[in-house]
Amino acid sequence: GHVAVLMGGTSAEREVSLDSGRNVLAALRARGVRADAVDGIPNLLRELQDGHFDRVFHVLHGNKGGGEDGVLQGLLEALGVPYTGSGVLGSALSMDKIRSKQVWLALGLPTPRYVRLSRGADVHAAARELGLPVIVKPACEGSSVGVSRVYGEADLDAAIALAAQYPGELLMEQLIEGGEYTIGVLGGQALASIHIVPKGAWYDYNAKYVAEDTQYICPGLDEAGEAQAREQAERAFAALDLRGWARIDFMRDRDGRNWLLEANTAPGMTSHSLMPKSAAAFGVSFEELCWRILEMTVA
Ligand code: DAL
Ligand code: MG
Repeated sequence: GHVAVLMGGTSAEREVSLDSGRNVLAALRARGVRADAVDGIPNLLRELQDGHFDRVFHVLHGNKGGGEDGVLQGLLEALGVPYTGSGVLGSALSMDKIRSKQVWLALGLPTPRYVRLSRGADVHAAARELGLPVIVKPACEGSSVGVSRVYGEADLDAAIALAAQYPGELLMEQLIEGGEYTIGVLGGQALASIHIVPKGAWYDYNAKYVAEDTQYICPGLDEAGEAQAREQAERAFAALDLRGWARIDFMRDRDGRNWLLEANTAPGMTSHSLMPKSAAAFGVSFEELCWRILEMTVA
């Protein structure tokens, strides 16, 4: 068959996605897969109509013009075209950090306390309810776009204004003091955790994609810690009805408790990205990772 590697799009994470897509394309070709790049959903639909592709590998990050929120998955379901990764439900739930948390909480999985902010909400009352420091985020973005850490009430309004530049609801979350971690999941099985140690205060967009001094410790935990993180990640993956692959981000507090932040259903595949590192530390090369994700496409 002929695989469309779907990348780019119009979300805030367009550039990251183009970078991911180029790497995936090269890996699939190295494995002998006939694959070509397609930029964005409208182009993909035209190409599918013309019969050019019969399978989609999507690394389209982000919501709306991105492909991570379930809309793309619904289109491909309707067209009967197999695609990588999660389906409509898992993608939509994971793109929305508030709904992800609600599902996890309902199943007894740990996630930091939060307040869902509708436009015009009393954000100062919300911050007092949670207790500073807090994190303010757009509920449906990725790559830390629009995210701020707030340590003093004087900084709250600016944080809200920044997050409000993005579509959808806002989320205020208790900041867990401790370490930032993530872990890849492939076919329902968790890989190795990564402890992320940014040079600056936290792992923001710059630390993710630009800085060369962010430190990644992988595996990030001792044997017992890895086992615990893997079990939680697998439960978090299943809870959101995820498929194929995903990356689960979490914080670990100073008492060694993990707190789930979010699931990424089209994780970054750039040279700075975490999913490839998580797989590599588990003995799965980048090429093998791409191949296994492709193999798991649902017809
Ligand atoms: N949203 C970015 C691409 C990630 O999770 O890696
Ligand atoms: Mg994300």
